[in-house]
Amino acid sequence: MTLYPAGGLEPTHVCDTGLDAVTGAFSYSGRAIASALTNSGRQVRTLTGHPSRANGGNDIEIRPLDFDDQIGLVRSLEGVTTLYNTYWVRFAHQRIDHHQAVENSRALFQAARRAGVERIIHVSITHPSIDSPLPYFRGKALVERALAETGVSYAVVRPAILFGGDGVLLNNIAWLLRHLPVFAIGGTGDYRIRGIHVDDLAQFCLQKGAESFDSVSDAVGPERPTFVELVNSIKDTVKSRSLLVHVPAAVLPLFSRVVRAVVGDVLLTRDEYRAMANGLADTEGPATGSTLLSDWLVEHAPILGLTYANELKRHFGTSSDR
Ligand SMILES: NC(=O)c1ccc[n+]([C@@H]2O[C@H](COP(=O)([O-])OP(=O)(O)OC[C@H]3O[C@@H](n4cnc5c(N)ncnc54)[C@H](OP(=O)(O)O)[C@@H]3O)[C@@H](O)[C@H]2O)c1
Repeated sequence: MTLYPAGGLEPTHVCDTGLDAVTGAFSYSGRAIASALTNSGRQVRTLTGHPSRANGGNDIEIRPLDFDDQIGLVRSLEGVTTLYNTYWVRFAHQRIDHHQAVENSRALFQAARRAGVERIIHVSITHPSIDSPLPYFRGKALVERALAETGVSYAVVRPAILFGGDGVLLNNIAWLLRHLPVFAIGGTGDYRIRGIHVDDLAQFCLQKGAESFDSVSDAVGPERPTFVELVNSIKDTVKSRSLLVHVPAAVLPLFSRVVRAVVGDVLLTRDEYRAMANGLADTEGPATGSTLLSDWLVEHAPILGLTYANELKRHFGTSSDR
């Protein structure tokens, strides 16, 4: 339950301990959310599988993100007012697939309820659907349903694609454009991509954290270029001479396999391509973030794509792989 103090705009939670929890405060969106929280004077505890990435310069309390230890999860969430949940897996790897990620998310929400967490802000994705043939989007819908069933006050925040910080997607498109003579675009490339800056997402999450009613909102930026327009912008930004070629969707996995063999990473899964091509990375609604992707590209031109950001190493490599 949340109270609105007389004369003040900021709501306060009834049992506000001043402490919030964030999953993955040393990873991508969790890092931005944790930073926004500490900058606003909140204490932050993170649940993470990468505790060694704490740089010592922040005051973030660290607990394990261990879904096999339900009691430990509950203890880690005790005293927390709001849980900001970014947990998800991009693709199945080792023993964790999307089905397992749904069960893990459910375990986290139940632990939050048992620990007395007042509110959960959950980062999802645009257009999740129980009927989706794509395990990622179906899994996300199941997680949203599990959250609603938990009984804790919640807000679901749905970005399509994130940029900024040390995000991988745009950086790695730039890396390919800098290094390869040819860049393959699946199909016409006229599907739209509606990114939001990771710091805008973080601010939006905090805004939702301060509310007290259940809600589901897209978290999207002001620009929605087509994929071809986006790739051309990045190409111009990094002054690439790479030739853009349109290939049938069926050929893309071959291209991805070649890139994977070279960089040792999963650049784009077949399902991620299908989602983009089917318009799932776009929405019609108003922007919730203000940072212009086009401005951000120009600002980051000197460094964008200089080094490849390896997602597999980030999650499964050593502590120095970031
Ligand atoms: N990145 C995007 O462009 C994008 C676009 C749309 C929606 N989203 C959604 O935004 C949320 C956060 O995404 P993100 O890119 O910010 O993720 P992230 O920082 O890479 O990871 C978020 C959390 O999930 C954990 N995690 C990720 N992969 C894992 C794996 N394979 N095994 C175990 N734990 C794993 C991380 O653990 P550690 O703490 O150990 O790192 C971290 O706690 C997700 O729900 C995602 O679906 C992201």
